[in-house]
Amino acid sequence: MGSGQPKVRDLLAERAGEEMALNDRHLNPQLGRIVRTLGFDRRWVGGEGEHLIDDRGERYLDLVGGHGVFAVGRNHPAVAAAIDELLAARTPNMPQLGVTLLSGLLAEELLARAPDSVDAMVPANSGAEAVEAAIKLSRAASGRSRVLHASHSFHGLTMGALSLNGNEEFREGFEPLLPGCEAVPFGDRDALAHELAAGDVAAFVIEPIQGKGVNLPPPGYLEAAQRLCREAGALFVVDEVQTGLGRTGRFLALEHWGLEPDMICLAKALSGGMVPVGAVLVSRAVMDAVFDSMERGVRHSSTFGGNDLAAAAGLATLRVLEEEGLAARAERLGGLLLELTAPLVDRYEIVRDVRGLGLIWAIELGPPGGLASRATWRMAERAQPGLGAQLLTVPLFHRHRVLCQVAGHRMNVIKALPALVVSEQELRRFAAALERVVRAAERTPSAAARTGWRLARGAAVARLRGAA
Ligand SMILES: Cc1ncc(COP(=O)(O)O)c(C=O)c1O
Repeated sequence: MGSGQPKVRDLLAERAGEEMALNDRHLNPQLGRIVRTLGFDRRWVGGEGEHLIDDRGERYLDLVGGHGVFAVGRNHPAVAAAIDELLAARTPNMPQLGVTLLSGLLAEELLARAPDSVDAMVPANSGAEAVEAAIKLSRAASGRSRVLHASHSFHGLTMGALSLNGNEEFREGFEPLLPGCEAVPFGDRDALAHELAAGDVAAFVIEPIQGKGVNLPPPGYLEAAQRLCREAGALFVVDEVQTGLGRTGRFLALEHWGLEPDMICLAKALSGGMVPVGAVLVSRAVMDAVFDSMERGVRHSSTFGGNDLAAAAGLATLRVLEEEGLAARAERLGGLLLELTAPLVDRYEIVRDVRGLGLIWAIELGPPGGLASRATWRMAERAQPGLGAQLLTVPLFHRHRVLCQVAGHRMNVIKALPALVVSEQELRRFAAALERVVRAAERTPSAAARTGWRLARGAAVARLRGAA
């Protein structure tokens, strides 16, 4: 690379418009097809707070939030400033045979906010990597190999994390996965007790609220799961990769149930969404059992784990969460969103459920009652399970400038993970838009289907024309 190499800013300007072609040629063309089919292939030029901004300057309410990483909002100035400052400081990052200040400070801050049951931090670079670490640490600490997870669970897509995945569509084609990893039905404490009874389980890994489908635990389940694990000598591992950092109205979701796990996995929002990050908060007992001698002092690590950039971003994010009171804000605005949207269950036949906690929210849809309407729904579902929900996400995007996602494969659940800084006005706008698209889909589902596809196709054709 000569000194003539364009700067990032020049590249962004000079090559603008080539995103999709480059994706299709060098990255994932099937993803490109999905995005184009839905007509979601806007050219995004910016992100701010709860919004994505396209090349016409239109602001879209972003309810996908980079899969939940933008709790403090996109490009939060305080996190960006911390990253700039860190780079300017030219720190002695990652000496490896040495230790650094910032990851220690991040550990100190996280542990101060976590239950007393955890006392150390193992750094990682992503959610899946945090889960991998939890699997390894629980096996090494317990000397046992079985690891239990819940049906419908999602803990990431690397081989270990995938072994704890309760969704067939992710596992299929990648098996055999890690031996000894088994699912128990989510919410079923008897099934968990039954599996734990053999006394050979290293750990039970659980999301307090399941990301795929936004499934809330039945009352008493998580507390019982923790107690059962303790009784069976199994470690209780709570995956807060999606629910942590204020999302549910508490710094950690586990606070809702007073849980005291042996390990807590964190990632996603921890760096303000700006750089990859992950961490496992670990009990002293587990830490000491795994790293029990100098010889075993580096038996688990990751080159970039605890790097200064992620630590600085993490520290800034924690400060922002606190200064802006974002957990309390998530609780208040989540309550408002439920209040605005829960009545849709009674008003519309296709709305089966509306649920959430803080600002993790979902609406579940089902087939309408009328014969003709039901036939249209079934047709969409036959073409592809979960397509019914897309009939809402498409007009939400094109008509109302709201980006939202279906909550998992083959499910008619639409999910929202807005930035916790989202304005009340934007949430009200979303609730009104949602009711309009639900009403249209229920009253005239075939028209909704046609409109959905026309909007999606129209957007694609317009772009083709634009490109020609
Ligand atoms: C609960 C949970 N755990 C783990 C992961 C994996 O995180 P990552 O994509 O950073 O590997 C996710 C990602 O969605 C998640 O929701």
